[in-house]
Amino acid sequence: MAAKLSSPIAEDIGAMRVKYRDRSELFLEKDLVSNEPISQFKNWLEEACKTPGILEPNAMCLATASKDGSPSCRYVLLKSYGSEGFKFFTNYSSRKARDLAENPKAALTFYWEPLKRSVRIEGSCEKVSAAESDKYFHERPRDSQLGACTSHQSSVIKGREELDVREKELREKYGEDKEIDRPEEWGGYLVVPHVVEFWQGQSNRVHDRIVFRKADASEANGTTTFEGADGWVFERLAP
Ligand SMILES: Cc1cc2nc3c(=O)[nH]c(=O)nc-3n(C[C@H](O)[C@H](O)[C@H](O)COP(=O)(O)O)c2cc1C
Repeated sequence: MAAKLSSPIAEDIGAMRVKYRDRSELFLEKDLVSNEPISQFKNWLEEACKTPGILEPNAMCLATASKDGSPSCRYVLLKSYGSEGFKFFTNYSSRKARDLAENPKAALTFYWEPLKRSVRIEGSCEKVSAAESDKYFHERPRDSQLGACTSHQSSVIKGREELDVREKELREKYGEDKEIDRPEEWGGYLVVPHVVEFWQGQSNRVHDRIVFRKADASEANGTTTFEGADGWVFERLAP
């Protein structure tokens, strides 16, 4: 039986309209800070970090798909990025990791609501080295390290109690200052991008979309394709 929506707010969802500020002067091709996407991303992320109301500017929605093409997505935190790609950390036995083991492709989406900006990234995904996972694991607060050891992420558990018991055992094992071993099943991934899109909402709903993609001669799109740096080209897409 379908659940009845009793909240008037939820019932009005189709009528919700948010007025976007006009930022048209900010996002013409000539105003891109760079002709490759990593510096452009840095510029937007830095603005997001300074914007009140964006508490986790590094939160991004990660999409994966199983071998048979069933998609799933969830939020993770971006932990570093650069010309090599975008990194996050997770559990290698989680659902996302199972997907990535059989289909090493991923998509990431950021949305910075107060700025009406979104960035979409598509690429291939690979594990970072064990040494890099060790380094980042030990930089995390002790409670986060214990949390990573406590949870066999995405497995079905009997109840919350199971986690509490495991955490207590680990606290007894490691005490206050003994170094906590990184579980083998916890580590990082690198998403190596081949498409990065920047979306800027505009007040007239004719939004701006600039997409960078790794140059591929067979895909060249004539006069609308701009030559970028580092093997990237970019184009404007219809919103
Ligand atoms: C804002 C936010 C940030 C999160 N960051 C992470 C993260 O960095 N790594 C992670 O494994 N899970 C993170 N999670 C939890 C995931 O969304 C998800 O529940 C978990 O990774 C299991 O996903 P899976 O079963 O699809 O593998 C975060 C959740 C939220 C809401």
